[in-house]
Amino acid sequence: MSQLPRPTVYIETYGCQMNVADSELMYGTLAAQGYEAVDAPEGADVILVNTCAIRDHAEQRVIGRLGELRRHMKADTIMGVTGCMAQRLGPRILEKARHVSLVVGPDGYRALPQLLDGARNGEKGIFTTFDLEEHYEDVTPRRTDPVKAWIPVQRGCDYRCTYCIVPFTRGAERSRALADVVREVRQVVETGTTEIVLLGQTVNSYNDGTHDFADLLRAVGAIDGVRRLRYTSPHPNDFSERVIAAHAEVEAVCEHMHLPMQSGSTRVLKRMLRRYSREEFLACVANLRTVMPSLVLTTDVIVGFPGETDEDFEDTLSAVVEAGFSDAFTFKFSPREGTPATRMPAEETVPDDVASERLQRLIQTVRAQSREQNLALLGSRVEVLIERLARDGALLMGRTRDWKTVLVPGDASLMNTYHTVELTGSTGSTFTGAFVSDAQPVRQPLPMAG
Ligand code: 5AD
Ligand code: SF4
Repeated sequence: MSQLPRPTVYIETYGCQMNVADSELMYGTLAAQGYEAVDAPEGADVILVNTCAIRDHAEQRVIGRLGELRRHMKADTIMGVTGCMAQRLGPRILEKARHVSLVVGPDGYRALPQLLDGARNGEKGIFTTFDLEEHYEDVTPRRTDPVKAWIPVQRGCDYRCTYCIVPFTRGAERSRALADVVREVRQVVETGTTEIVLLGQTVNSYNDGTHDFADLLRAVGAIDGVRRLRYTSPHPNDFSERVIAAHAEVEAVCEHMHLPMQSGSTRVLKRMLRRYSREEFLACVANLRTVMPSLVLTTDVIVGFPGETDEDFEDTLSAVVEAGFSDAFTFKFSPREGTPATRMPAEETVPDDVASERLQRLIQTVRAQSREQNLALLGSRVEVLIERLARDGALLMGRTRDWKTVLVPGDASLMNTYHTVELTGSTGSTFTGAFVSDAQPVRQPLPMAG
């Protein structure tokens, strides 16, 4: 007797690492119901697009992509939209793209198998209720990153930055129990993973009712086999003394942090409701550098926020220099429906050409600074973890503890191994390197130093 083929599911992910982790949970939920994951949309029984709503541009890309994916659908393929855009637009997605049958927000992935059954009977399914208890604790994610494990430790956001749609699409902040996080990390370490990335919208405000983020860093850092520990993204106001002190104690915590600044002008920061001034932000940077002197910092910056003057923008440029950022994601303000920033007086709107020019100047400032910092590193020796084949196939791409990208010669057998590498060249943003003589790949897990 031949077995029925398992239904196949393809998930395409847009946006942040939280979405990457959520897609892994969706795959896990569906695998438990007999679905098979596939890497291409052609002929898949189910196609899910996990979306981002942070800027209008991100949404427009998804709308375009939904049209393209239609070509890959069989007569009975079910197409679903999940994630932040699904939560934000709900039924409006079904109007924009009639070939979509499911719309499921970030707290609804447990319902996917049931919704898919309904869709097979011709029902359109919408699930956009928040569930403040939902952490998908019983779902085993299907990990898609060969080297790093993305571990959500917190969902939602309780800040109300006036430009941001996230509190509307991901709901209130809640933290997983520390014991559950530790259990998951132990499981991934057993499979040979040595790099852990803790995820949360304001991850350092983590609090499970008993433990704070300092406890979490200590607990995860103490797990045998965790060699690199990262987290993203912290909020400057949630670096308590305890949390900062934990950085000095936990050796696995890497010397790189992505710390969103958004603006270097106190006036703009106030209007963004970021809850810190320029001086407070820079003081936070200084405190972090005191406990981690070799800390590499990257950031997010928005230009063209309503009411931003030339002087405000100059403050942003000078703060980028003062904070010593090594890189930045830079964005033009994008008004998001329903957020307080859209209710600011129309005359405060920054014209698009002004915002574009500011964006270009900001990018130039960041690039120049990054280049200068990187060129100064040439000739130094660093620890590199090999992550994947580089795009041209002949080289491997690895990363340093402080998040620099290094290309080295080698083949796939070196994946997920650590090496000492000398930095021999730089484009200004990435490096080429050479293995230091007869260095043997160090298979994991390694004993922790100290
Ligand atoms: N417009 C432009 N950029 C935004 N971001 C968040 N909301 C907006 C918006 N409405 C940026 C912030 C945030 C990053 C993830 O996206 O810089 O840190
Ligand atoms: Fe958005 Fe601010 Fe929350 Fe970050 S902290 S997700 S920018 S509201």
